[in-house]
Amino acid sequence: MLRLATAGESHGPALVGVLSGLPAGLVLDRDAIDADLARRQQGQGRSPRQRIEQDRVEVLAGLRHGRTLGTPLAIVVRNRDHENWQWGMSPWRPEGEPEGKGTKPVTLPRPGHADLAGALKYGHEDIRDVLERASARQTAITVAAGAVAKALLAHLGVAVAGAIVDEGSVEDARADRDTVGGVIEVRASGAPPGLGSYASREDRLDARLGAALMGIQAVKGVEIGDGFALAGLRGSEAHDEILPGFTRETNRAGGIEGGVSNGEEIVVRAAMKPLPTLMQPLRSVDLRSGAPGEALVERSDVSAVEALSVVAEAAVAFELARAAREKFGGDALGDFVAAHRAYLERIPWRPR
Ligand SMILES: Cc1cc2nc3c(=O)[nH]c(=O)nc-3n(C[C@H](O)[C@H](O)[C@H](O)COP(=O)(O)O)c2cc1C
Repeated sequence: MLRLATAGESHGPALVGVLSGLPAGLVLDRDAIDADLARRQQGQGRSPRQRIEQDRVEVLAGLRHGRTLGTPLAIVVRNRDHENWQWGMSPWRPEGEPEGKGTKPVTLPRPGHADLAGALKYGHEDIRDVLERASARQTAITVAAGAVAKALLAHLGVAVAGAIVDEGSVEDARADRDTVGGVIEVRASGAPPGLGSYASREDRLDARLGAALMGIQAVKGVEIGDGFALAGLRGSEAHDEILPGFTRETNRAGGIEGGVSNGEEIVVRAAMKPLPTLMQPLRSVDLRSGAPGEALVERSDVSAVEALSVVAEAAVAFELARAAREKFGGDALGDFVAAHRAYLERIPWRPR
C-alpha cells in the first residue's frame, strides 16, 4: 500500500523519495511541507550546516496542480551544500584537480557511528562512502513524506505532533566540545480503533511504530504509552479500565492494545543517544594502517533532539497513514474518506 523508497547522500546533489500508494485527489500544500522541513533544521544544538541548507521540497511526478494523481509521488530535497563538495561528492568520476570538501579519504572511524561496521561490510576504504548515507541528513525526506502523510490523516481527523520530553544541557556540552541526547514524545489524536492488527507480527501497530522510530538514526529506545514503567506495576495499576460508553479514564497503554489502536490518543516515546561526532574525539584506529588515532572530527550538531521530535512525528504519521490506507483503502480520496465514515457509523466510538 503506502510505501516510501528513498535515496541520497548527505553532501550529494539531492535527497530523493518515491511515495507510492497515495489516493488520487489529495491536495498538498507546498508551504506546509517546507514548514516541516524548516522545523527539522531547528534546535539550539544544530551545526552551521543548517544555515547553508534551506530545505525546500520539489515534486517531479505524481502531482498536478497541487493534487495527487494516484500515481507515485516523486519528491526531491536538494543539498545546497553540494556546491562545496562538487569534486568530493561527484556521482561520476570527477574531472580536474581535487577541490573543495571531501577530497581526502576518511580513515578514522567514529565510535557510535556506522563508520567501522559499514566500511567492513561494504569493503569501503574511504569511510566517506559509508557516512554520507548513514548520516541523518536523509531524514529530510522522512519529514517531507511525513508532511504528505499528515495531509492524508487530516481527512480522518487525525493529528500528529512531536515534542521534546528531555534533553541534556546543550550549552554545557558545547562548551565541553561534547554532545548530548534526549527523549522525545509523539502523540497522535483522533486515530480510530482498529489501525493495525493482532493477527501477525508485521501487522501490529506497536511493532510498526517501534520499527519506524528505531529506523531513525541515533534512536536507541522506544516505548509505547507508559512502556518501561509498566513493568514495575501490578496489573490492577497498569491497565486502563473500560467505562460506560467504552471510554477510559487513563491511557497507560498509549492508545494501543494487542497491536491495534484502541481509540485513545496514541503516545510513543523515543530515546536518542548522544551524537557520535565529537569535537574532542574519542580513541579510534586507522582503517588502513591499524595505528591508534583519534576519530574523525567533522562539522556536526551538539544535539539534534529537537530535530528528532520532528522526524519522529513524520515517521509516526507515515506509519499511521499506512495503517489507515490498509484499513480504508480507496483509489480516490473520497473513497478513503467514505470508508472511514462508514466504519465510524458501525462502531460505538467517537473522536474526543
Ligand atoms: C536529525 C538528526 C541529526 C543528527 N545529526 C548528527 C550530527 O550532526 N552528528 C552526528 O555525529 N550524528 C548525528 N546524528 C546521529 C547519527 O546520524 C547516528 O548516531 C548515526 O547514524 C549512527 O547510527 P545509530 O546511532 O543508529 O547507531 C543525527 C541524528 C538525527 C536523527
